[in-house]
Amino acid sequence: MKLAVVGATGMVGTVLLQVLEERNFPISELLLVASERSVGKTILFKGASHSIVSMQSAIAAKPDIAIFSAGGNTSLEYAPKFAEAGTTVIDNSSAWRMDPDKKLVVPEINASLLTTSDKIIANPNCSTIQLVMALAPLHRKYQAKRVVVSTYQSVSGTGVKAVQQMENEMAGISGPMAYPYPIHKNALPHCDVFEANGFTKEEMKLAREPQKILDDRSFSVTATAVRIPTAGGHSESVNVEFRTDFDLSEVRQLLHDTPGVVVQDNPDTNTYPMPIYAHHKDDVFVGRIRRDETQPNTLHLWIVSDNLRKGAATNAVQIAEYLVEKKLV
Ligand code: A2P
Repeated sequence: MKLAVVGATGMVGTVLLQVLEERNFPISELLLVASERSVGKTILFKGASHSIVSMQSAIAAKPDIAIFSAGGNTSLEYAPKFAEAGTTVIDNSSAWRMDPDKKLVVPEINASLLTTSDKIIANPNCSTIQLVMALAPLHRKYQAKRVVVSTYQSVSGTGVKAVQQMENEMAGISGPMAYPYPIHKNALPHCDVFEANGFTKEEMKLAREPQKILDDRSFSVTATAVRIPTAGGHSESVNVEFRTDFDLSEVRQLLHDTPGVVVQDNPDTNTYPMPIYAHHKDDVFVGRIRRDETQPNTLHLWIVSDNLRKGAATNAVQIAEYLVEKKLV
């Protein structure tokens, strides 16, 4: 398997290489791509030094799979060029997610849609992935009608500059700002840019992507996305109104039986998901499972996951593993 990682020096790219190494993804040749200014620099993978190569030389090498984490504009420009060369692209940016001709894949939910003709496959937004991982089994059983999400998102989702801003502020050092305000000791109700309807782009990703992944427009999602000064993962307060009633112990069992989901829920022992425990893990953690007593058929959940792992790198590698296993590349 000839594999290219585009954006190998970035936050997601770095975690991608760790995940590929940990999961022992079969690689015969690894092409690491970053911007022109990084070409020639080296990165260690499985103890061996790999030089960063240019986009053009990676395309010319015709890899079987290219995993992109280099921003939307880079994906828009270069993913089609890899695809023309016969490469299957798995793209972490938002560039192709809502394109009706591209599949938006969380392997545990809809990998079976993939065929050999899917040459650009979209990886969903990090906040979306952890939401749908918990929502999918419950939706199948009780049919979600309306989902209200409030997020508490890690600065690592913004990139290196944001993590640096937080660390500088914690140390009392001034430096470049990734956000319009300080993030240390703060909460910013502002993830990604604002759209014309007053929602942010992050909030609209949460509204649009779950319907596409679950292939169902019979439910709606509305969101408020907030950046908080954590680095380990995103947290979500989720309120779901279902069309049919549920039994709480059955809800717990359904979540418990879902691969990739871990239930952490025991008020007696103060057990609930938190970013400090989700950090560096691949699972989606769910707790604070309780009935909303203000209206029928309505459930509260608290969902936490490492946004760079299942929210980005791990999900992309799982897609690649599926392509290999099913001989789709
Ligand atoms: P570089 O390190 O050379 O800038 P992050 O989202 O964490 O900032 O990472 C972005 C990643 O995308 C980095 O690896 C960055 O490389 C890479 N990148 C940015 N622009 C391009 C480009 N035009 N072509 C290839 N890689 C790019």
